[in-house]
Amino acid sequence: MKTIEWKDGKVFLIDQRKLPLKYEIINCSTYQAVAEAIKKMKIRGAPAIGVAAAFGIALAAYSSKADTNKEFSLDMEKAKNCLALTRPTAVNLFWALGRIMNLINIKKDVDLFELKDIILQEAKNIAREDIEINKAMGRYGASLIKNGDSILTHCNAGALATVDHGTALGVIRTAFKDGKKIHIYVDETRPALQGARLTAWELMQEKIPFTLIADNMAGFLMSQKRVNLIIVGADRIARNGDVVNKIGTYSLSVLARENKVPFYVAAPISTIDVSLKSGGEIPIEEREAKEVTHIFGKQIAPTGVKVFNPVFDLTPHGYVEAIITEKGIIKKPFEENIKLVC
Ligand code: MRU
Repeated sequence: MKTIEWKDGKVFLIDQRKLPLKYEIINCSTYQAVAEAIKKMKIRGAPAIGVAAAFGIALAAYSSKADTNKEFSLDMEKAKNCLALTRPTAVNLFWALGRIMNLINIKKDVDLFELKDIILQEAKNIAREDIEINKAMGRYGASLIKNGDSILTHCNAGALATVDHGTALGVIRTAFKDGKKIHIYVDETRPALQGARLTAWELMQEKIPFTLIADNMAGFLMSQKRVNLIIVGADRIARNGDVVNKIGTYSLSVLARENKVPFYVAAPISTIDVSLKSGGEIPIEEREAKEVTHIFGKQIAPTGVKVFNPVFDLTPHGYVEAIITEKGIIKKPFEENIKLVC
């Protein structure tokens, strides 16, 4: 099963909140259910939530009772607004919604029966292209990995964060399939533990050698020369190359610079938001305190404690060695080179 699929008029997805203890497939038959799944992080990871949103619009299209194209467009707008309010940081969500809504606008006079199918086919295209893009990214990125490399990754930028294969983990997967002997250090990634729960689960399935560490151990490992490469994903990249990714990424990039470890970001072109001059303009999502005070439903902090829970941070482009995309590896100067591919 892929992370997300359309089958028999419904959206099927792996419930990532349950992993690794339980592998459960759930289905959504309304766009509101898809929105809820994104909000609650049953599906998460920038490219995956983009695909989920696109399928959400397809569900809205098929459930619309509109008789006229005008009414139908209003229904689609309502669904888009609901899906757009789920998570603010990953630009892939807005990119996918924009792509579908543009198409609806272009085809606004097409017979509604046909238009619904056009919307579904476009959502399916976004899902299919995601896998091809990740594989291309994997091939480019694998060229940076040598036999014997010890690679650190943060959060989950794997098959579960996409439709399949993954971005940062897709690069690692490709290098491993190419026969390179590599070892991965996986940051647990507090507070939601995407590293411990999801990346560890994926690497185990693939039999890629790895070691799980708590986030605060990464600097020590680097100082001991036990990490010689870092690859992470991204939720949004500004046109100057500033990267917003899972909270903790910034600290890793600073530690990487201090310890002379190259720090790479793997992300599809759809993650680059050329409308933004720099990363400071990217909204950083804050989530509920319970993510910090509880682990798997178990309280670990005193009742009523004050909590700050920003779930992403900003890595200034100066700390990034290069950005691996499906169109090739973007090197510095980022602003000029991003312009050439976007
Ligand atoms: O909060 P999440 O789990 O959606 O955050 C995911 C990340 O930060 C990933 O690193 C990013 O989306 C890239 S996934 C290919």
